Amino acid sequence: IPVEDFDLVIFGGTGDLARRKILPGLFHRYLAGQIPPEARIVGAARSEMDAEGYRAFTREALQEFAPNSCKDGGQVEAFLAMLSYVAIDARGDGGWKELAGLMRPDVVQAFYFSVAPALFGDLAERLHGHGIATEASRIVVEKPFGRDLESARQLNRGLAEYFTEEQIYRIDHYLGKETVQNLMAVRFGNVLFEPLWNAQFVDHIQVTVAETVGVGGRGEYYDKSGAMRDMVQNHLMQLLCLIAMEPPSKFDPDAVRDEKLKVIRALDPVAPEDIVRGQYRAGEDGPSYLEEVGDPRSTTESFIALKVHVANWRWNGTPFYLRTGKRLRARMSEIVVVFKEPPHSIFGDDAGRSANILTIRLQPDEGMTLQVTIKEPGPGGMRLIDVPLDMSFAEALGESGNQMPDAYERLIMDVVRGNQTLFMRGDEVEAAWAWTDPLIAGWEARRDKPQAYHPGTNGPEDSLMLLHRDGRRWRDLE
Ligand code: BG6
Repeated sequence: IPVEDFDLVIFGGTGDLARRKILPGLFHRYLAGQIPPEARIVGAARSEMDAEGYRAFTREALQEFAPNSCKDGGQVEAFLAMLSYVAIDARGDGGWKELAGLMRPDVVQAFYFSVAPALFGDLAERLHGHGIATEASRIVVEKPFGRDLESARQLNRGLAEYFTEEQIYRIDHYLGKETVQNLMAVRFGNVLFEPLWNAQFVDHIQVTVAETVGVGGRGEYYDKSGAMRDMVQNHLMQLLCLIAMEPPSKFDPDAVRDEKLKVIRALDPVAPEDIVRGQYRAGEDGPSYLEEVGDPRSTTESFIALKVHVANWRWNGTPFYLRTGKRLRARMSEIVVVFKEPPHSIFGDDAGRSANILTIRLQPDEGMTLQVTIKEPGPGGMRLIDVPLDMSFAEALGESGNQMPDAYERLIMDVVRGNQTLFMRGDEVEAAWAWTDPLIAGWEARRDKPQAYHPGTNGPEDSLMLLHRDGRRWRDLE
């Protein structure tokens, strides 16, 4: 279904995110027929460039990051014709008049702040001061949304001077992933799971976001953040919320976000022994973390595992184990719900026992598996084995060329549609920092050092112990 006509301004229009995600994402939506041809996309950045230059820049970006979609040159050119460019000075006056002249008052207006958070306030002020933003304009902001509660509050206050909460779309691209939305469909579109989705039937939950890449060229940013700020405070927290929240009364932005907020507020502080931090060593195929960030004394973590408790009626006593890290054995993100064993085995101990496990895989191959117990086929008596009930979303969607859309595609279209359900509300972000800050302050005060781990492994030994000592184990990274 096509969205309404719109003007989208991308501040940071020549940046890495624009090149890799935003422009290719818009192109895909254009190819899918979702973007009306009258819509306008305006790149805005510091570099002096004209519209032709920006089209050439975008053409290259599409060839690099969406090569399979560029086969029809006519379509590429038709998309590029929607683009224009303004050289803009975020902290001065240059370019703003020109930008004002490009905007059409009678269509949806969205401003994408794909720039350092330090510039959010400047952009907001100028959009307002030059009479460009209206009460109906929407702004999109990227992470990192602050580095602690105080800075997040400042950002929220800065934006709130010029925009209402209904105008602000804070992106967490994990919420745009198809499987993450499917998690809600699975939970609330079936009768099968919800009655069992609680401490009485769930033994524990694992959330893993494992990457094989290191910090690479992002060392300067990353070393000031670490896995806790870069991944847990936002992406893993969002996953945790969607798993743990109560059913919202409807699939509407505030109903969903209210429930997520309650989960964050119910999180217990995490004890020091329930936190494992790690840093990757050098391997055959790459330098160590310390070499990559260029600081031999850095104590920033490239891996973190946590045992977390949601202190409410539904989840009392059910641990949520979270882990994320770089340079691990495999690129794999999944949510695993491990159900309790049946209370009594009528088949006797010799038959074997096992538990139902629901695995929701975000990447690489999106899908869901439910492990169920059946009888081992054959005449050998009653022996129980586990078999997977598998559903690959790609297969289920058929081979109609119906590629899984990238998270950004979905989210940008939601901005145009004015749907905030998959965006973080200001109070959610603040609550997440309020939980994160004392954990970070704790290990800083204790001067805890991250444990070194070998690249291509499951991370530090202690993270395995985090589950072993509870009689559990992580799922293999594969
Ligand atoms: C980003 C982090 O938000 O998410 C990166 O800053 C990380 O460090 C990335 O690599 C992971 O996203 P995805 O979609 O590749 O899992």
